[in-house]
Amino acid sequence: MHVINFLRKSRVVLRTRVIENTGCDSRLRNFFRDSRAMEVVSGLTHIEVTNDDPIVLFKNWLEEARSFSTPMPRAFCLATASGCGKVSARHLLLGRLDDDGFVTTTNGRSPKSQDLSEVPSAAMCFHWAYRRENGETVSRQVRIEGTVTKLGREEYEDIYEKSDISYKIRDHICEQSSPVDWNELKASHDRMLEKIKSEGVAPPMPEHTAGYKLFPSSMEFYYAKGRLIADRVLFLKNPKASDWTHHHLAA
Ligand SMILES: Cc1cc2nc3c(=O)[nH]c(=O)nc-3n(C[C@H](O)[C@H](O)[C@H](O)COP(=O)(O)O)c2cc1C
Repeated sequence: MHVINFLRKSRVVLRTRVIENTGCDSRLRNFFRDSRAMEVVSGLTHIEVTNDDPIVLFKNWLEEARSFSTPMPRAFCLATASGCGKVSARHLLLGRLDDDGFVTTTNGRSPKSQDLSEVPSAAMCFHWAYRRENGETVSRQVRIEGTVTKLGREEYEDIYEKSDISYKIRDHICEQSSPVDWNELKASHDRMLEKIKSEGVAPPMPEHTAGYKLFPSSMEFYYAKGRLIADRVLFLKNPKASDWTHHHLAA
């Protein structure tokens, strides 16, 4: 027991000689086997920051996730709060990334839109997990916090226009988050699909489709590679200017 404690503290690496000289019980052997295994897999991931603007790093990470066929790389979790402090979270798709913020679209009569009208601040969280060609696993997370602005219709129509026909139909027929009769909804969907097919035109964006932009005040990047200890970098926006500062955080 004495010997094990001593070795744990001093991290002596002369394994073979020590084993021989101490008569080597099985606990000692296990200790060395474990510590050898730890040496092989332990280390620190490193996030290299080459640009002071975190949006640039975000774009690089999104692009890499996309290039490794990560399912739904634009999906993120959005947390909002109501005026009385009730917090909710749900996933959305990033509609567009501008140089100054993150744009998404949703139903303007939904609970999240109600939250955003009461508390125009939110938190977004992206997670990407994939394997590189060399077999290395990557787990990356980006947490973004900031204020949210409701956009004018012309600022997000492009997102609606590019979306699949099923999303367009959904925007028209779904009173998002309200109780619904599934059979009635299906009938309404089929009628609209038939009309689109016969007229050959997709329906225009409905009035109640809303677009929001989150202007980030903080962005935190987390990167874990294989079994190495993760690295984190937090970017904070200078409230009086448009520049950012950043520093590493313990994982
Ligand atoms: C991966 C994924 C992406 C989604 N994208 C959107 C989206 O872009 N817009 C949207 O309104 N709902 C989207 N949803 C549905 C929302 O998660 C949610 O169910 C809906 O918006 C109602 O949220 P609310 O009741 O909190 O307002 C998505 C769901 C998933 C799982």
